[in-house]
Amino acid sequence: ESLDSFAPRILEWFETHGRHDLPWQQHQTDTPNPYMVWLSEVMLQQTQVATVLPYFARFMESFPTVQDLAAADWDAVAEHWAGLGYYARARNLHKGAKQLVAVINETGNFPQTVDGWQAIAGVGPSTAGAIVAMGLHGYGVICDGNVKRVLTRWAGIDGDITKSATDKVLWALATRLTPRAHSGRFAQGMMDMGATLCIRRKPACLLCPLQADCIAHAQGRETDYPVKAKK
Ligand code: ADE
Ligand code: SF4
Repeated sequence: ESLDSFAPRILEWFETHGRHDLPWQQHQTDTPNPYMVWLSEVMLQQTQVATVLPYFARFMESFPTVQDLAAADWDAVAEHWAGLGYYARARNLHKGAKQLVAVINETGNFPQTVDGWQAIAGVGPSTAGAIVAMGLHGYGVICDGNVKRVLTRWAGIDGDITKSATDKVLWALATRLTPRAHSGRFAQGMMDMGATLCIRRKPACLLCPLQADCIAHAQGRETDYPVKAKK
């Protein structure tokens, strides 16, 4: 029962409290733009939204299409990336752009499935799910660090999140909770929840739509989750 009310609570919270003004979000453009969502998701993998915004704007200004990015010199891409960190992401972005252009030349379109996106450099399962859900209006499941923090707390999952067994449990739960309709809004809602309410320290449980049945909150042990083995 609480499983079935999970998605409606996230979707309702997202409508009033989520972020709707991000430049890569669907309603900002007339047609679905998987290029913008892919670019933003790669930037957001290890970087917060506020930091990404000006970089995203400069990329779109200089490389308005995936063809522009694929054709750009590496030096130009690196220059645009400078300061965002994790340079492997920039390398993958440039390589990924070339791979995407090859797919487009062959099929006439961007990849349309989660598996198709996962074949692109730098795109893991969660990024692929985000692109399909938010960039293509398809069905996609996300389970990134923010989502894992929310789910381990809500469900009281105390397995080590660096272990593949725990990863499987979390993906299964995320899949079970993601609604068939509006998986993109659900994805953005979960990420916004994790980024603004269910934060690492001092989560804002009193404002949280999951508070009533959140196990970590009931235990008063919010910050004990997610469990990560000490190195
Ligand atoms: N982190 C990864 N993707 C994100 C998104 N679309 N919005 C906010 N944070 C994110
Ligand atoms: Fe996170 Fe608190 Fe909400 Fe639980 S009640 S999901 S710990 S913000």
